[in-house]
Amino acid sequence: SRSRRTRGEAVKVEKHLEPFRLSLEKLQDVSARLRKDMLRGLGKHAHHRAAVKMLPTFVRATPDGTEKGDFLALDLGGTNFRVLHVRVLEEEQRVLKMDSQICAIPQEIMLGTGEKLFDHIAACLAEFLDSQKLRGQTLPLGFTFSFPCEQKEIDKSILIRWTKGFNCSGVEGEDVVRLLKEAIHRRGDYDIGSVAMVNDTVGTMMSCGYRDQSCEIGMIIGTGTNACYMEEMKNVKRVEGEDGRMCINTEWGGFGDDGSLKDILTEFDEEVDKTSINPGVHTFEKMISGMYLGEIVRLVLLKLTEEKLLFKGCPSEALLTPGSFETKFISEIEDGLENAKKILTKLALDWDLVDACVARLVCDTVSSRSARLCAAALATIANRIRTNRGLDHLKTTVGVDGTVYRKHPNFSDELQAAVRLLAPKCDVSFLISEDGSGKGAAMVTAVAQRLALHCMLNFL
Ligand code: BGC
Repeated sequence: SRSRRTRGEAVKVEKHLEPFRLSLEKLQDVSARLRKDMLRGLGKHAHHRAAVKMLPTFVRATPDGTEKGDFLALDLGGTNFRVLHVRVLEEEQRVLKMDSQICAIPQEIMLGTGEKLFDHIAACLAEFLDSQKLRGQTLPLGFTFSFPCEQKEIDKSILIRWTKGFNCSGVEGEDVVRLLKEAIHRRGDYDIGSVAMVNDTVGTMMSCGYRDQSCEIGMIIGTGTNACYMEEMKNVKRVEGEDGRMCINTEWGGFGDDGSLKDILTEFDEEVDKTSINPGVHTFEKMISGMYLGEIVRLVLLKLTEEKLLFKGCPSEALLTPGSFETKFISEIEDGLENAKKILTKLALDWDLVDACVARLVCDTVSSRSARLCAAALATIANRIRTNRGLDHLKTTVGVDGTVYRKHPNFSDELQAAVRLLAPKCDVSFLISEDGSGKGAAMVTAVAQRLALHCMLNFL
């Protein structure tokens, strides 16, 4: 039959997939490299050149359950831009989302000037305040801004670089809070209260922390990937003070930007990097996150087609088009062969049953690598927290969010299984964050207010 393949062909397919399969030893090795890079990032002087930036967040405490009040939250940098009204209820230890609104950010704004971007944000916020009848109240605002920022204070945050699909001019090197406030002042028809800047990983950790106070790690595996965790202040050399802890935004997406992951990069990863809008940076992210996984799969399928191992050697127009293989197809295809057939048909490919199985194998190989690399990085963090505290055994919780983690049929299982092997002395539980970047941002703002209040009371 036309769907039969020779053993030789199977071997050739495997030859292209083999570089994606990382052994346990390799993952341990990757984890050891990240451990060193994290130390470099925390250092006072070494951090300038560090690939893993280890950014202080000025979040010094996780929630203690006494926070309360009404807050606004903005969420930029995930799948959608959102504006939210959030209420933190002390008595019930709950965070309520009163209402929220999604505002589209058109591509021309994502790649336009910073001024236009912030005007757009300020306009969305105005519209939301009107719809909620909140104009006139100056509520504190938590701004989940999911990009690497050098934070000087909770309300001063300088964008280091854009990532994912954004590239607005005049924002890198600038204080994002100032840009937001200027845009609001340009309008002059409403005002906001104090602002707290929050990375989405931090929001995710904080929103879970209200429910589970052992939640000291936040992780995102969505459009981009990253994690934060509570580090001992004495190890955070760039911020004064020795006591207590501070949340560190690792920006692990930049791992490998100094060439340290060269041995595990495939030709497909190199191609994805070259054609991205930010070549040369966020190496680790490009092997893991939703913005890139579909494109990696497309390039592998294309290569196999060119070698006449798939689709009778005929690529379709769609398969030849960058970005046409969406990351969500990976989840769908792995979910069942029937889905695989539908998607291959949609991509106008002339497939047979073996093609569908091979396509599924490719998806599985690429998503497994992503899950295992995340596991290696997460295990590094868990092990670090454990040794920081001089413990033989650590029990901890990770607050997690992101489309890849949530939507893929077995990503979370693979990730957890690999973490167990890579951090055998840690008992890591996972808590999916319900709207971390919205509610979490409000939590950060609330905790900052609580700490400021304590600080004031100490003076009185
Ligand atoms: C950004 C991080 C963010 C992550 C997940 C990355 O591209 O650099 O700041 O946390 O995406 O959204």
